[in-house]
Amino acid sequence: MLKHGARPKAWHGTLNRQVQVLISALVLSLLVIIFLYFNGGEKHYSSFQLPKQKWNSFDSLIKFHPAMEFRNGTDVIWQIPDSAKAALFLAHGCDGRASNFWDKSLNCPKCVGLPEERLLVLHALARKFAVITISSAGRCWTLGKEKLIVKDIIRWWVVRNKLEKLPLVALGASSGGYFVSSLATNLRFSSITLMIAEGVFDRVDITEDYPPTLFVHMPKDIHRQRKISEYLKILRDKGIDVADIECMEFPLSPNFLADRIPDLDLTVSAKLFELFQNKGFIDKKGYMVDDGRETRWREALRETNSLSLVMNLVPHIQEELNVAFAYHEMTSLQSERIFDWFETHMSIKSPLYSH
Ligand SMILES: *[C@@H]1O[C@H](CO)[C@@H](O)[C@H](O)[C@H]1NC(C)=O
Repeated sequence: MLKHGARPKAWHGTLNRQVQVLISALVLSLLVIIFLYFNGGEKHYSSFQLPKQKWNSFDSLIKFHPAMEFRNGTDVIWQIPDSAKAALFLAHGCDGRASNFWDKSLNCPKCVGLPEERLLVLHALARKFAVITISSAGRCWTLGKEKLIVKDIIRWWVVRNKLEKLPLVALGASSGGYFVSSLATNLRFSSITLMIAEGVFDRVDITEDYPPTLFVHMPKDIHRQRKISEYLKILRDKGIDVADIECMEFPLSPNFLADRIPDLDLTVSAKLFELFQNKGFIDKKGYMVDDGRETRWREALRETNSLSLVMNLVPHIQEELNVAFAYHEMTSLQSERIFDWFETHMSIKSPLYSH
């Protein structure tokens, strides 16, 4: 090692020039790296991609066989893959249930299998995350005693399944996102993802051990977008690792609903597409004109005899229309990036640790 100030002879030799160029190049790259690193908060992705995952993309890999239990007055449904490397708590939004995340099966006859929820679980299981879902007590999550109940349930589940040594992460959408942002001060997560939710950072005491936080959001929701920008900055300034992924609208196609929803075949999917076009629910390019919740597509469906069969898939279709409109909906389209985020922020801290 060279002592500070000492200079090797080569500096004065014929190689002088080349060495200087090399050194300058190295210093420059180092500066770029340092800049990128300290600017590391600016981890920002925007996605215009069309959904490439089909509902049955995981068929050869993963089967749903969840276990369930009624505990602390609520439904707990989970599945643990062989050689799990992490544990994931998934929190639904208002009006959601644990049963939305899992396909209907013998194990879970009342399961609903909403298209985005089920794909999130399949992604998680494929990447060897044990998954736990819990239903909120009321319509939406609350930030009082409910946090202690969920903490107890997760602790019980972790111990019972011997997952203590695994990193624990969480993803919450909408109301579930607010809940997870607050629960992160009761339970030690390695990292969290807040989906279509800015979090309750006006009420959370952000200490330096607050977990790395990824925001997955839909910037069409301008009000929320502003809040998220604000909280990204606040968290970053406190030294918390943050990133965000913007989810953009995309056009429907005749096969879109069949690609995403189990039990909805291509013929029906194409008919729905045609109906939506005729009714002006989608524009010439296939984009939703308005949010699925605001569109009178259910009424149009009821008036179309040949489509009355899909009435039992209304929540599934609605969810996909909302994802395509990209204003406010649970989405699995960013799963690769979400699980990359979890995997690169998996320092093992005992989930049983609490502040
Ligand atoms: C949850 O249930 C367990 C077992 O019945 C109980 O010991 C615990 O106190 C409950 N937690 C809360 C917060 O009520």
